Amino acid sequence: MQSLSVKAPGRINLIGEHTDYNGGFVMPAAIQMAATVHLEKRTDREIHLFAEDLQESYTFNVETISKSYTEWANYIIGVIAQFQKLVTIPTGFHLRLKSNVPIGAGLSSSAAIECAVAVAINELFAFGIDRMQLTKMAQKAEHEYAGVQCGIMDQFASMFGKKDQVILLDCQSMHYQYYPLVLEDYDIVLIDTQIKHALASSEYNTRRKECELGILQIQKTYASVQSLREITMAMLNECIDQTAMPLVYKRCKYVIEEIERTQAAAIDLQENQLAAFGQKMFATHDGLSALYEVSCAELDFLVKEVKHNPNVIGARMMGGGFGGCTINLIKKEATASVVQKLVASYQNTYQKTLVHYIVSIEDGAGLFPSVSI
Ligand code: GLA
Repeated sequence: MQSLSVKAPGRINLIGEHTDYNGGFVMPAAIQMAATVHLEKRTDREIHLFAEDLQESYTFNVETISKSYTEWANYIIGVIAQFQKLVTIPTGFHLRLKSNVPIGAGLSSSAAIECAVAVAINELFAFGIDRMQLTKMAQKAEHEYAGVQCGIMDQFASMFGKKDQVILLDCQSMHYQYYPLVLEDYDIVLIDTQIKHALASSEYNTRRKECELGILQIQKTYASVQSLREITMAMLNECIDQTAMPLVYKRCKYVIEEIERTQAAAIDLQENQLAAFGQKMFATHDGLSALYEVSCAELDFLVKEVKHNPNVIGARMMGGGFGGCTINLIKKEATASVVQKLVASYQNTYQKTLVHYIVSIEDGAGLFPSVSI
C-alpha cells in the first residue's frame, strides 16, 4: 500500500480511575471524537509531519529520531521510535494529522494520536504487529516522549473500543470483556471545566510513586505482593501506619476501594441497576477528591451541583484529574436543562463558559476509507 488513513478515538471511563497502573479494573469506552492520520510513502528516508489543525509541519530523517521541542510532534515521533526498536522502517513518509478530540479535557487526545499512528505505520509497511503490542507501543510513546507514566487504559480503549459497548479490562491479566451499555433514557454527558491545571502530569507521576511506596511498605510483611490489586484493607491497616505515612495510606485506601467498586459496578451494569451504578460514580468522585487528591475546585463544584438532582444518577471527575471533564449520567429529557443550569452557575462562580459533549460509543482504531482528511 502506498497511502492510507486511520482513525483512532478518544475515550471515556465510566468507573475505575487511577487503577490501571495498580493492576486493577477499568471500564472505558471509545467515543465519537477521534484523531485521523493520513500516511503516504516517500521514496527517500524523510518523515514529514503536518498538523492540519495547527497548520504546522515538522520534518526529520528516519535515521535521526529524537525528542522534539514541538509538543504535538512528540506523540508521533514517540510511536515511530517504538517501531524502530522492533523493525526497520524501509522508507520515509508524509503524515497528516487532524483531530477533534478536545485537548486537555481528559478524553485522551494524545492516546488517540498515538494509536492512530501505531495502526497506520503497521498497516502502511505491513509489519503485522498485533493490536495488543501496538497498544503497549503507544503507551510507551507516552512514557518516553510525553513524560507521563500513564497506565494502559487510554491506549487500550482507543484500540479495542467497540460500538455501544464498554470494556471491563483487568489491567493485571489484560483480560477484557465487553458489556453492552444499555442506558435506555439516560445520556452520557461530559461537562468540560475548560481548565487544565499545570500540575496535572507531575502530580500523576507523583501518585504512581506514592502507590509504589505503599507496595514497598507492604512488601515488608507480604514479600510476594506486586500491586495494590493484591491488597485488602485489612492488609493495608496492618502494614501502613496512618499517622506515619498519611499520604501513602490515603492513596492506597482509595485504590483498594476503587478496584472493589469497579468490580461491583460491573455487576450493577449487568443487572441493569443503573441507580446503584450511578451511586458508585459519586463515591469514586469522593475518593478521588478526598483520598487520592487529584480533583480540583472546579470539578468538585460541577459534581456537587448535580449530586442531589434526581435527573442525574451519577457524576464524577474523569481521567487523570486537575481539570478536564466530569462524566454524568443524565435523564435524556433533562439533559438540556441540567446543562443550562450548570453553565449559568459555573459562569457565575468561575467566569468561564462550560462546554458539554453528549457521548456516543464507537469502534476503536481502524482504517478509514477516505484518503483526504
Ligand atoms: C490518565 C492515564 C490513564 C489512567 C487515568 C486515570 O488518563 O493516561 O492511564 O491512569 O489517567 O485513571
